[in-house]
Amino acid sequence: MPVSDAVAPRRILGIETSCDETSAAVVYGTPTEMRLESLVILSQDVHRLFGGVVPEIASRQHLTGIVPAVRAALDDAQRSLADLDAIAVTHAPGLVGALLVGTSYAKALGFTHGLPVVPVHHLEGHLFATLLEHPDAAPPFTALLVSGGHTMLLDVPAWGRYRMLGQTRDDAAGEAFDKVAKMLGLPYPGGRHIEALAREAEAPARTHPHRFARPMLRKSAQPGDEDYYDCSFSGLKTAVLYAVRAAEQAGALEAQRAGIARGFQDALIDTLAEKVARAARIHRRTRVVMGGGVACNQALQDAIRERLAPRVTVFAPTPRLATDNAAMIAAAGLFRFAAGERATPTMTAQSSLPIPGIFS
Ligand code: KG4
Ligand code: ZN
Repeated sequence: MPVSDAVAPRRILGIETSCDETSAAVVYGTPTEMRLESLVILSQDVHRLFGGVVPEIASRQHLTGIVPAVRAALDDAQRSLADLDAIAVTHAPGLVGALLVGTSYAKALGFTHGLPVVPVHHLEGHLFATLLEHPDAAPPFTALLVSGGHTMLLDVPAWGRYRMLGQTRDDAAGEAFDKVAKMLGLPYPGGRHIEALAREAEAPARTHPHRFARPMLRKSAQPGDEDYYDCSFSGLKTAVLYAVRAAEQAGALEAQRAGIARGFQDALIDTLAEKVARAARIHRRTRVVMGGGVACNQALQDAIRERLAPRVTVFAPTPRLATDNAAMIAAAGLFRFAAGERATPTMTAQSSLPIPGIFS
């Protein structure tokens, strides 16, 4: 996707409604140099009551939140619609009813105000999030995308060109965090609660029952083997379930909760850090860019940094930009806008869609 170096700076409104955050943001700049002018995130707390996102409720909340979110983003940026060059909106992947609120609203707003609409893939948005805080978080790099719905390892030679190296065969990393959190009686979404609980415990010793096997981490694995980059977390989740049951039966769950959380997190992190290190080494990258909600896990960031220092710099977004937000959609939208992409009138929400420019 060639983009001329001499691209003029543009101002773009980003809209994100793929899951349970109604978010709007204004970003100004070029695909290589951009600044965030505002970011509003309305997080739908109601889903905590159900221990997971209820799609129908999510759609309804987006409907009531989208107009105030966009208005607040423009107000915070001290801009009006007349100051915008385009609107970027997440059109895939995600909950289709939730996405539809964003795409329908963006198209209506664009049509009535004569603004082009740029469809953005949510996962490409996660890759751009870090760029808003670190201008050096630009290709070429190794990317680790770890969210509630996805776990992917990519090699990124240029924006818009994503080589798929590996992904999870079952649960996403965030999903595993959330399920283990539920087993341990922690609120949803559980990732940050597991991280906090794990901090209270020491790493379990090699022979300790809470030292869980590292999934898909064969020392003898070679590039080209299917398990060289792929991950799997469902076996780890089951091992945690057995540990929780054993602790319950012994009447010791309270005493062992932190140890189990630590054992789980260590196993997951060891696996991800090794796979990222393999990818950076084989593709000779000196940068790693992390994205997605799990990327704000400090222990994961530290483990990857430790393994790759000093040759490789690891970039991770701050929590506000790591979890779902419209700033990352606006940032990716700037790139796609500069590349000439525009939504057709038939553009609509899609629950699943490969990242544009992905290859293997
Ligand atoms: O990217 P995101 O906001 O939504 C999706 O696109 O899925 O990611 C949400 C996921 C949840 O599974 C949440 O538990 C996880 O990110 N998460 C974390 C942490 N903060 C959020 N996982 C581990 N450690 C954290 N500190
Ligand atoms: Zn996401």
